[in-house]
Amino acid sequence: MTIPHRQLGSTGLSVSAIGMGGMPLSISGRPSEEEGIKTIHTALEQGITFFDTANAYCLNNDDFGHNERLLAKALQQHPQAIVATKGGLTRPDGRWEPNGHPDYLRQACEDSLLALGLDSIVLYQFHRPDPAVPFAESLGALAELQKEGKLIHAGLSNVSVAHLEEAKGIIEVASVQNRMNLFDHSSIDVLKYCEANQIAFLPYSPLNGISKAGQIGSNPVLSRIANKYEVSAQQVALAWLLQLSPAIIPIPGASRGSSIANSAKAAEVVLSAEDMAELNTIGQQQA
Ligand SMILES: NC(=O)c1ccc[n+]([C@@H]2O[C@H](COP(=O)([O-])OP(=O)(O)OC[C@H]3O[C@@H](n4cnc5c(N)ncnc54)[C@H](OP(=O)(O)O)[C@@H]3O)[C@@H](O)[C@H]2O)c1
Repeated sequence: MTIPHRQLGSTGLSVSAIGMGGMPLSISGRPSEEEGIKTIHTALEQGITFFDTANAYCLNNDDFGHNERLLAKALQQHPQAIVATKGGLTRPDGRWEPNGHPDYLRQACEDSLLALGLDSIVLYQFHRPDPAVPFAESLGALAELQKEGKLIHAGLSNVSVAHLEEAKGIIEVASVQNRMNLFDHSSIDVLKYCEANQIAFLPYSPLNGISKAGQIGSNPVLSRIANKYEVSAQQVALAWLLQLSPAIIPIPGASRGSSIANSAKAAEVVLSAEDMAELNTIGQQQA
């Protein structure tokens, strides 16, 4: 199977227009390793070449790097796959806590290299600004790691336009990963900034997050439009993102192969301008 490809910002890399988020394979409620590897292989069979992970996709600090190790194992014989990882969060007792200290980020990146079995990470993203550490100091660590060749491209996650402006002159930002979906338009200003600056925008929780993804079809507008095109509500939600901007590469999460197989086909759905306009109103109603 093939999926249309998109440029990952100005990196020169071309990746499948739909990526896969690895988080559901490694946090609480995760499937067995065997099932997880099957899901990743289903994604590959569908033509997906872009996988999003993080060192923190695990149960707790004793399990750090679980998702990176799983992806590395599943993707061993698949050099076409590009893995983007993140550092900057820790998991004490399963909580999510930021750590943007430069020394920590250096160690985290080196641990990710080991977990992924790589000499260099194609896209390394700072997971979340740490209120306890000046943002520029965290970015400085990424710039150093890039100079040393440990990461090729740097991305930022959970950032504002002000953060992106601050990053100028410290690091070239290849991608931004913020929450965005039909129901949450809070990062539209960041998306516009990315479009204007040739930065890839990787919307996370594109199906409204793990706990709500299965039920998005209960929205009447979404359900009617999905029925009209004879596709799933999730495919419409992903097609809406793809049509919203050429900078967007959605990264739907999946623990089941059937979920990612369905999501991968969203790139085939072409929504009319009228349907796009109506879908836009869903998020505006939530704002
Ligand atoms: N940077 C950050 O701070 C941040 C935060 C959250 C997430 N992320 C990244 O973004 C990725 C996606 O976000 P997310 O996992 O939170 O939420 P999501 O993609 O909105 O929803 C994920 C859930 O959607 C279900 N699903 C996927 N495709 C489906 C389909 N076609 N039909 C029905 N259900 C479908 C999956 O169910 P099954 O599990 O049953 O297959 C999965 O658990 C994550 O995996 C992670 O890589 C980043």
